[in-house]
Amino acid sequence: MDETKLKIPEHVAIILDGNGRWAKRKGLLRHMGHVEGCKTVERLVEDAARLGIRYLTVYGFSTENWKRSEEEVSGLMQLFRYYMVRLLKSAKKNNVRVKVIGDRSRFDRDIIEGLNALEGETEKNTGLTFVIAVNYGGRDEIVRGVRRLAADIRAGRLSPEQVDETCLTAYLDTAGMPDPDLLIRTGGEQRLSNYLLWQMAYTEFYFTDVYWPDFNKEELIKAIEKYNKRERRFGGV
Ligand code: IPE
Ligand code: IPE
Ligand code: MG
Repeated sequence: MDETKLKIPEHVAIILDGNGRWAKRKGLLRHMGHVEGCKTVERLVEDAARLGIRYLTVYGFSTENWKRSEEEVSGLMQLFRYYMVRLLKSAKKNNVRVKVIGDRSRFDRDIIEGLNALEGETEKNTGLTFVIAVNYGGRDEIVRGVRRLAADIRAGRLSPEQVDETCLTAYLDTAGMPDPDLLIRTGGEQRLSNYLLWQMAYTEFYFTDVYWPDFNKEELIKAIEKYNKRERRFGGV
């Protein structure tokens, strides 16, 4: 299909999965799967921007991923450190705005500072918004949001009657962002794994068996083509 004829979704959310199995299949350590997976993320940000996607939200580390071995978690933290620096440079060069969702307070100081810098130094960029979900969980996000909302009610800044869907949305990490139009999950599993639970009420889902390190622009276009063939409904007829 001619990619210029595709209707491009405004917001694509991705659950990148299958790094470990990709490595295992090749007889490599799991960590090598994550290394390759990071390269795929870098390439995909460029592809998404070129296709005209406005928001790309990538699940990098879930609130549940702390349960992995200490070795794997610390390997992932090292990769964050390395790629944060590269991303800051490329985002500045390519007019990409970076947003971080999830509870970053649990990370080491230098990682928190790196994430803050990524957001702060790119906030005026007008191209693709690249959203990284780290220490992110949909339930955790809602709980943190509701806690702040409750504090505002207690302080008299908000009344219970004012609480509606729009109001609650503004307390989430994704405040100000459109909901995802398309979710892509690689790696063959067909579940949400606590991703963007509130935001994906009407998102179209696309699952592929391709392991994340093998995902590329062609696969992205395949997902968008499939999305183009769907008739989206939001509860109407
Ligand atoms: C996704 O790949 C990366 C993260 C969750 C950080 P996995 O590490 O989950 O790979 P599989 O699912 O074990 O193959
Ligand atoms: C989902 O992948 C989380 C991320 C991609 C960060 P997981 O591999 O952690 O999810 P489960 O364990 O298959 O649900
Ligand atoms: Mg997995």
